Amino acid sequence: MLYPEELIEEVRIRNDIIEVVSSYVKLERKGRRYFGLCPFHNEKSPSFCIEPAKQFFYCFGCNKGGSVIQFIMNIEHLDFLDALKFLADRAGIALPEPEDAGEKEKSKLRMQILDINKEAARFFFATLASKNGTGAQGYLRRRGLTEKTIKQFGLGLAPGGWNELTKALLDKGTEKGLLLSSGLSLETKNGELIDRFRDRVMFPIFDIRGNIVGFGGRVIDQTQPKYMNSPDTPVYNKSRELYGLNFARQSKSKKLLIVEGYMDVISLHQAGIDYAVASLGTALTQSQAWILKKYAEEVIISYDSDSAGQAATLRGLDILEKAGCNIRVLLIPDGKDPDDYIKNNGPEKFKNLVDRAISLLDYKIRIEKNMYNLDTIDDKLKLLNSIADILAAHDNSIERELYTKNYAQQYGISLESLNSEVQKRRKKQISKSKEYSLRKNTAVRRELSGIPQIDSRYGDLEYLLLVMLCNENRFFGKVSDEYGLDAYMDKGAKKIAEKLYNRLTQSKNCVLAELLNVLEPKEASYMVHIAETNSDLEDTDKAIQQVLNKLEILKLEDLQKQTIERIKNEHDGIIRRQLGLEFSKRAERLAELKRLA
Ligand code: CTP
Ligand code: MN
Repeated sequence: MLYPEELIEEVRIRNDIIEVVSSYVKLERKGRRYFGLCPFHNEKSPSFCIEPAKQFFYCFGCNKGGSVIQFIMNIEHLDFLDALKFLADRAGIALPEPEDAGEKEKSKLRMQILDINKEAARFFFATLASKNGTGAQGYLRRRGLTEKTIKQFGLGLAPGGWNELTKALLDKGTEKGLLLSSGLSLETKNGELIDRFRDRVMFPIFDIRGNIVGFGGRVIDQTQPKYMNSPDTPVYNKSRELYGLNFARQSKSKKLLIVEGYMDVISLHQAGIDYAVASLGTALTQSQAWILKKYAEEVIISYDSDSAGQAATLRGLDILEKAGCNIRVLLIPDGKDPDDYIKNNGPEKFKNLVDRAISLLDYKIRIEKNMYNLDTIDDKLKLLNSIADILAAHDNSIERELYTKNYAQQYGISLESLNSEVQKRRKKQISKSKEYSLRKNTAVRRELSGIPQIDSRYGDLEYLLLVMLCNENRFFGKVSDEYGLDAYMDKGAKKIAEKLYNRLTQSKNCVLAELLNVLEPKEASYMVHIAETNSDLEDTDKAIQQVLNKLEILKLEDLQKQTIERIKNEHDGIIRRQLGLEFSKRAERLAELKRLA
């Protein structure tokens, strides 16, 4: 591969499949999927769909499927590398050493902006350390930051003059145009360049690889606006970056804590909570959510608990939920932000809050509860109806059951009546989604004859196992114990398993769409076909155990057949008895497995 896997993955993540496909296909949302007329074959009613949470497309009619990369390969008739370039360009990512002149120009500009950003960060840092920085240093100290933290986050100070940074950079030979495209300088009416940031404490914004892509600047006094930020530039897009992720991705924790501000992230890291990132005041975006999903097994959201913060939390939760994140909500007493809370109560108390973060369901219901006055019967009924709505919309059946019990008890209603309300709503939802759920297409396997395989009985289950493992990487220990690479009977599945196991062994995460990056279009289509036609399967321990059991049953049955043949042909009585023993032992295990099935 010409490019490192990480870079390919970054290109994929930064191209939302819904956005990309929308410029070719008119999409309409139906339940959790988007549907449209398939661009790859002629049809009158839509069977082409996209799973936004999983970032792949699949057509139930022609069985084409894959990630955004395969989509572009197919629709633009590009090979893998050209499709990658197409998407990198779309997302403003610089791929190394592009060949054509236009590309070279753009990538040069990006490199130059990154360079002067670094230069500017040095300048701000030095200004903070200088005599002129005494006031700002005092400010940061009063806010509790140590020397080490200031260094780690590269904090600095923009001086008060009109053009000190601009002048310094011009003196070094930086071109005017570059200063403007970096967003560091602004042009006055009479064509002079001045500094965008003046008299502010400066927070460099790092991308995931540690490049400085932009800046935030905070006033030290009460002047408005409190913060000023770099505009979007060829290297910075505020809806894609997560402040602090370059550090948080190296955390041992598998969680990510998402907060609102620069200072929250910095205080949290200083307090040892090194898995905090910030969405920087803007509402959480879908691409941020996918990045969170990729790097964390669990996302904890801790926005201000004032009403604006609460609205932002709810919106954020929807987006995170759509991206398939496991979410909890951390509530800070008295509407403080994490930085204030740590300053007043210390890190340990904050860690307790993390442990006590509540589930998504609890949070939603808590908000409903605050809207009603529970002294009146009418309000109590309304609340119970909304609880039933919320529970019915929750897909995990085990959790749903547990919460139903819990809430029935908590609100003094009978479990039967709450349960029947929930079931009623679910039936309605299911009949709605049936309209769009299409039946398994067994002909697919034959059509996709490009996939090498020994035995489709194994292939289907093995692909399914891989799909489930992609959905829930935490099953890896169990799956690799019970079904190691040698166990795979289907060659295609084995090839994919090698890639997936390899990544998971290095404890890198892997989602299905990422695995698709390295697959041939036909393999990708088949993988997505298995994922889509089994999408009603829940990713639970029980479900994955069932797949493992079915595979074990297949293998044992094959062994039994072989053993019968061997017994028939065996003349030595002792060996025959030995084989007979093996046979009956296996028969017991088979019976047990079938009982479980
Ligand atoms: N923000 C911004 N512009 C503003 C206000 C806020 O860009 N005028 C962004 C900043 O990224 C800020 C985040 O929104 O960090 C959260 O805003 P807020 O809660 O008001 O500030 P804090 O982060 O709490 O800042 P501080 O503690 O320094 O007051
Ligand atoms: Mn604050």
